[in-house]
Amino acid sequence: MSKKDISRRTFLNYMLMGTGGFLAAGMITPMARFALDPALKADAGDGSMVPVTTVDKLSSEPQRFDFKVKVTDGWYKTEIPLSAWVYTEGDNIIALSPICKHLGCTVQWNTEPSKPNTFFCPCHFGFYEKNGKNVPNTPPLAPLDKYAYEVKEGKLYLGKPEPNPV
Ligand code: FES
Repeated sequence: MSKKDISRRTFLNYMLMGTGGFLAAGMITPMARFALDPALKADAGDGSMVPVTTVDKLSSEPQRFDFKVKVTDGWYKTEIPLSAWVYTEGDNIIALSPICKHLGCTVQWNTEPSKPNTFFCPCHFGFYEKNGKNVPNTPPLAPLDKYAYEVKEGKLYLGKPEPNPV
């Protein structure tokens, strides 16, 4: 046997290494892709604005609009339901979060006869003025959050709720 000849044992070793490497690459590539996928997506959690209603439906009386926001949490994508109390004030649009700043119940507009034209939280008798400012001496200690908004082609788009500076 010359030095250039390959023994059966050497040939089998090469074949096993080649096959094992091929199988390992086939298993590792999808796992690496799965692990890196959320980081490679450009739209993960971009907080973009979502359409809620058309502007012609708005008035100076607060109305509740329900909508859904797409949320990406790692590999998990879902839609969460949100609501906003929306009204117009001159050329401005006010969109308030219905989440009470006391313990998170949902506020309603103008449902408590003892304090008309206020947002009322039935959980602990919290009150807010129309602009979202918390009424003193009631449980909430901060104004209702206010949504960022924009109007495009007659549609109202809402962004994230932000602290209300009233
Ligand atoms: S949760 Fe609204 S007043 Fe307590």
